[in-house]
Order: sequence, then C-alpha cells, then structure tokens
Amino acid sequence: MKKNTLILGIETSCDETAVAIVKDGTEIITNVVASQIESHKRFGGVVPEIASRHHVEQITQVLQEAFEESELTWDEIDAISVTEGPGLVGALLVGVNAAKALAFAKQKPLVGVHHIAGHIYANRLEREFNFPLLALIVSGGHTELVLMKEHGSYELIGETRDDAAGEAYDKVARMLNLPYPGGPHIDRLAAAGLESIDFPRAWLEENSYDFSFSGLKSAVINKIHNAKQRGEELKNEDIAASFQASVVEVLTAKTLRAAKEYNVSQVIVAGGVAANKGLRKELEAAFRETEIPLLIPDIKLCTDNAAMIAAAGTIAFEQGRRSGLDLNANASLLLK
Ligand code: KG4
Ligand code: ZN
Repeated sequence: MKKNTLILGIETSCDETAVAIVKDGTEIITNVVASQIESHKRFGGVVPEIASRHHVEQITQVLQEAFEESELTWDEIDAISVTEGPGLVGALLVGVNAAKALAFAKQKPLVGVHHIAGHIYANRLEREFNFPLLALIVSGGHTELVLMKEHGSYELIGETRDDAAGEAYDKVARMLNLPYPGGPHIDRLAAAGLESIDFPRAWLEENSYDFSFSGLKSAVINKIHNAKQRGEELKNEDIAASFQASVVEVLTAKTLRAAKEYNVSQVIVAGGVAANKGLRKELEAAFRETEIPLLIPDIKLCTDNAAMIAAAGTIAFEQGRRSGLDLNANASLLLK
C-alpha cells in the first residue's frame, strides 16, 4: 500500500455541497462544506429541486476552494471518490457527474461511495478502527446499526422500519414551530425541560435491533392536540425533553445490547443526530460501565461533509474497488 494516498471526496446527496481531500483515509487536508440550509428553511425542509440547483451553482466553486486551501495540484491526487447513493437523486447526480467529468479529464480512478459508509468512516478521521466494530448511524435519512468485521465490510443488524431518528426530530420540531433543521432546537429546548410526559418507547420484538419512531412522533402530535383542546398548557421544553428521552433511551439500550452480543472492540456513532447532546451523554454513561471504547466524532464530522466520503473512498480504493464512467446516482443504494 502506497503511503500518502490523497483522495478527493465529493458529497452532494442532500443539502450540503462538499469537497474534501484526505490523506491515507485518516488525515483531513481540506474539508469545504457549502450548506444550503438557509434556502430550505422557509419551506420547513429540503426541497429536492432547489437542492439540485444549488449543487450545480456551488460545485465548481467548492472544488476550487478545496484546491486553493490545500495548495495541492491535480497531479498529486490519487483518486476521486463520490457519494453515489442513497439520497436525493437529482442532488446525487450533480456530484456523480462532476466526479465522472473530473475522472475523465484528469485521468484519475473513480470510486463510488455509499453515504452511510462515509458517515461511519468520518470516525476514522479521529481514531483508528478496531474490529469487530459496531456503528450506530443516526441521521435525517437513516437509523441503522451496522456490524463491521473488517474494513469495507458492512453487516446491517438493525434499521428503522419507518421514520429515521433525525426525521422524527425534524417533524416534532415542526409541530413546535421551530425552524428547519429541528434537531438542534429540540436538543437545546430539551436541556431546559423536564421529562414530565410519558411518551412510548418502541422496543419492537424482543431481540430485534430494528427501530421505529413514527409511533412516538404520532404520540407527540396527539399530546399537543389534546392539550390544545383541553386548554391545557404544555411547555415546549417539556415536550422536547420527554420526546428526546424516548429516542435516546431506545437508541442507547439497543446499541449497548448489540455491542455486548457481538462482543465488539469499539462502538462508533455517526450522522447528524450524533451531534445530540442528550444522546452523547447517555451513550457515554452507558459505555463507561463497560470495557468497550465509544467514539463519537466532533460535531462537524457528524453532519454531512466530503472528508467522510474521501475517508471511506480511501479504503474502497485500497481494496481495488473502481467505478466506471457509467457510474450512476442510486437514490436507494444498499450498504454492502
Ligand atoms: O447526517 P445529516 O447531516 O444528514 C443526513 O444524511 O440526513 O443529518 C441531519 C439530521 C437532521 O434531521 C437534523 O435535525 C439532525 O440531523 N440533527 C440533530 C442535531 N443536529 C442535527 N438531531 C438532534 N439533535 C441535534 N443536536
Ligand atoms: Zn448524512
């Protein structure tokens, strides 16, 4: 394996246009992220067509910024990695087409990357992996428990059957008239509230590592409606704290049980919801009682970025995986 492998990463699956350069899959050289949150805020969520248009407008500029910041030249780049899925198809296509054009023009190998593999590999930018490893991925589109026995191998042991954790946060936030994305606002309110409302915990069947958040979301909506009808005063802080307690308890308990059952050497957490203070605190408390090291990356590596795509792309590149110029965006790509 050649050392000093430099991989360029491109990420456009949702509402961030991002380009990064990573060395050996572990060291960020540059990590440029252009967020579109401001443009989607007034619609209360990501509008796919607006997202695609912004990506088209931003991608060249972000790419240029990444090179300027790194002071590297194309000659030094070993390969181009890009998120091929899952995500919004029109958004993904912008990144995939940019990557293909660059791979062709600069004569570089092209490596398609799964977005969730990227979220997982964001952790390797902070600490080396130890296998077997359990990853909890909690984002706006995903809630998954993935077992990894070696680099580049992903075994899905649990996933959400309906809403993703971040999606539930965003929907509840909308009910409380909080801006998009709602997760950080609920997190902030929760810290000031009391867990005074008994919302359900969706444990599902015994032994299941799957998740479900739509029942909880409905319970919150019903509670708010009923209180309104009765003229009862409910504090948003208490709703947020009680909702968050339900999400965090289920995520923490299932992650802990899976970590013990699979006898893992490391647990990592990834995705936007990994930024949640309540979740970080509960996971840290739960794993402190065990011998299993827990890693939750810095908040800027939890949300979408391209360094994570370059980090996952490095492993795929080193394992000899290549994509052709017929690479296509795949909105529902499976992790394998
Ligand atoms: O990973 P990410 O940036 O994009 C996806 O791939 O989905 O995750 C975005 C999600 C949003 O649903 C947002 O509300 C949620 O992460 N999020 C949070 C927090 N920060 C971001 N959820 C709960 N607490 C937070 N502090
Ligand atoms: Zn993501």
